[in-house]
This record gives sequence, C-alpha cells and structure tokens, in this order.
Amino acid sequence: MADQASERLASERLPRGQQNEHLAAGPQEHAARGATVLPSCHYPGRNLQMHLAINDIEPAPWSNPLAGLVVSSDVSSSADWRVVLDAKSADSALVVGDARVALATVPDETFQTTITSPPYWSLRDYGIDGQIGMEESLADYIANLVDVFDDVRRVTRGDGTLWLNIGDSYTSGGRTWRAPDRKNPIRAMDRRPATPDGLKSKDLIGVPWRIAFALQEAGWYLRADVIWSKPNCQPESVKDRPTRAHEYMFLFSKSERYKYDSDAVRGPNARNLRTIWDVNTQPYKEAHFATYPVQLVEPCVHLATDAGDLVLDPFIGSGTTGVAALGTGRRFVGIELNPSYVDIAERRVSGILGR
Ligand SMILES: C[S@@+](CC[C@H](N)C(=O)[O-])C[C@H]1O[C@@H](n2cnc3c(N)ncnc32)[C@H](O)[C@@H]1O
Repeated sequence: MADQASERLASERLPRGQQNEHLAAGPQEHAARGATVLPSCHYPGRNLQMHLAINDIEPAPWSNPLAGLVVSSDVSSSADWRVVLDAKSADSALVVGDARVALATVPDETFQTTITSPPYWSLRDYGIDGQIGMEESLADYIANLVDVFDDVRRVTRGDGTLWLNIGDSYTSGGRTWRAPDRKNPIRAMDRRPATPDGLKSKDLIGVPWRIAFALQEAGWYLRADVIWSKPNCQPESVKDRPTRAHEYMFLFSKSERYKYDSDAVRGPNARNLRTIWDVNTQPYKEAHFATYPVQLVEPCVHLATDAGDLVLDPFIGSGTTGVAALGTGRRFVGIELNPSYVDIAERRVSGILGR
C-alpha cells in the first residue's frame, strides 16, 4: 500500500537540486507566479501586491480581532504559546498552540475563509502531545476534527468558507506496522491502527468523505469536492489497483450564500472553473512533514476572499497557506502545535513579506 502521505513525505528525501526552491521566493517572484498558479486557470486583473508591514514588538491593538490570540494566560506548558509574527497593521499572526485551545480565544465571525490541511489519520507522528491524527480509532480522529471545525465555523464570518484538503488511505490488513514500498521506501511506519469496525483488510477507508459527511452533519454546507490531481504523483508497487494520484480539496460554506468570486479564477476559454485541478506536488526543503503546494492554495484565496480579508489556517505546518494569503495581499492567522514548524513558517512568511 502506498498513499498520499508517503508522496508528501517524499519531499524531505529529494536531492537538493530537485527540491522546489521557489516556495521561499520573495514578493516579486511570487507576484510573477500569480498569473500561472493553476495551469488551466488565470487571475484576471488581480493585484498581487502585499500591504502588510511587520513589527515584532507591539502586541496588536484590539481593533484587531486577533488580540485575543496574542496573549493567553491559559496556555498549557506543552503548547508554550507565543506570537512569532505580528503585523504592524495589527492583523496577522502565527501562533504556537493546540488549534482547539487557540480557537477558543478567537471572537465569533473573525475570518473570511479557512484553508487548511489537517493531520491525516495515523500517517504521520508529529511527535508532540496534543497532536491530532494519532488516535487509535478513526471515529475519535474524526470527532477531534469535527471539534476543531466546529470552532472554525464559529469564528468564520456569516458569508465565509472553509477549504479542506485531505487524502485517503487503506486499512492496515491487520499489520501493526507498514513496510517500505519498493518504489517508495519512505512509506514505512512503525505503527498502524487497527482496522476500523465495518472495514476489511485492503479496504480504501474513505477518510475524506467520512470527514466531509461529519462536517456536513455538524452544520457546514458541503459545496464542492475538488479533486487535486497530481501529475507528478509518487509511483506505487501495486498490481491490483490503479496508482493513487489525487486528494480532495472540499469547499464548505457557513451559510447558503457566501463570498465566492467565480471570475477570480477561470478555466480555459474563460469558462467557469472545473472541479479537477492539476497541480504538481511541491516539496518544501525545510519541512520534514506533509506540505501542500502554494499553487493549490492560491486559487482558494482568490475565489473566497478580497484583498485585506482575514485567512485562517489552524494547522499551518510549514506555513504554505500564509505564503499564499500574505503573498496575495490578504491578512493571515496560522496556528500550529509544533514550535519548530512555526519557525519554518515564520521564515517562509518573512520571505514573502520581504522582511
Ligand atoms: C498536514 S500538516 C499541515 C501542512 C501544511 N498545510 C503545509 O503546507 O506545510 C498538519 C499539521 O498539523 C499540526 N497539528 C497536529 N495536531 C495539531 C493541533 N492539535 N493543533 C494545531 N496543530 C496541530 C501538525 O504539527 C502538522 O504540522
């Protein structure tokens, strides 16, 4: 078995020369990329200038809805919250902490959109207390995600949206570990969860749709299942099924009507954007974990927000959503449990802001 997580993890094993250097690009390179983010799409008339200035010293004033995030006395010692980035224009931050704890301090209806890729179930041990994704049972994993996205819904504006990237995986077939794949050695894992009730050995679990239905039941409107098609997917040593070459990017809305600019990203011949997006995986050389490409995130930013709007990612990892949001003139708040990942994100975001 191989899966999208092993594809993502392959990034850390790529030789330096094959790694994607442009993700740490400065503003000019980023703006130049803006017109060709999605090969089959374009952004008519978009101004990709950034407007944020950065200031490390002053906490954001409370015209800023994020002031509640800046300081919290309720921080657990393991989370060790700190604001590592604070916009002088008082509206962007990277926060170290558990998304569930951090979001609880955010006022209602703060964010225009959330674009995120949560930890996948039992595919990656991020090695830190409080992490989501290492639950023994699939039901517990989904329940934890529903908890996070319940709070995300609360902090989303009435006309706001959620873009959720998630990939699927297979049952372990009774093994408590996963062997390396001949064509993809880094897929090895030293533990595997038990096969979920109702599933069999070798079953595709359907994790994305299970999450989508759970969020729909929790109140989100499920509006689109975008297929992230990966032309450069990892090979798999399988002979009894096709090689997996896609993940999902679900679009949810908080209400029936919501901000969505269908002219912001168009398909070929200016037709309405389709639900299959071809985007190459783009490993980021510093990240020793799953990252998604900026080119997957930027269309979501353009479709769901205007310049100046606030974008949230409760699981920032290496900060890809921040790169896409800040690089296109949006404001951004990212939350991440692992302080060393926030350091990576800060470096990437600082690069985009030309700091
Ligand atoms: C799939 S990765 C996100 C990768 C990111 N999209 C990128 O491009 O770099 C999921 C992240 O969620 C973080 N995480 C896990 N549990 C968390 C929690 N309870 N609160 C906040 N972050 C958490 C992990 O440390 C990991 O960095």
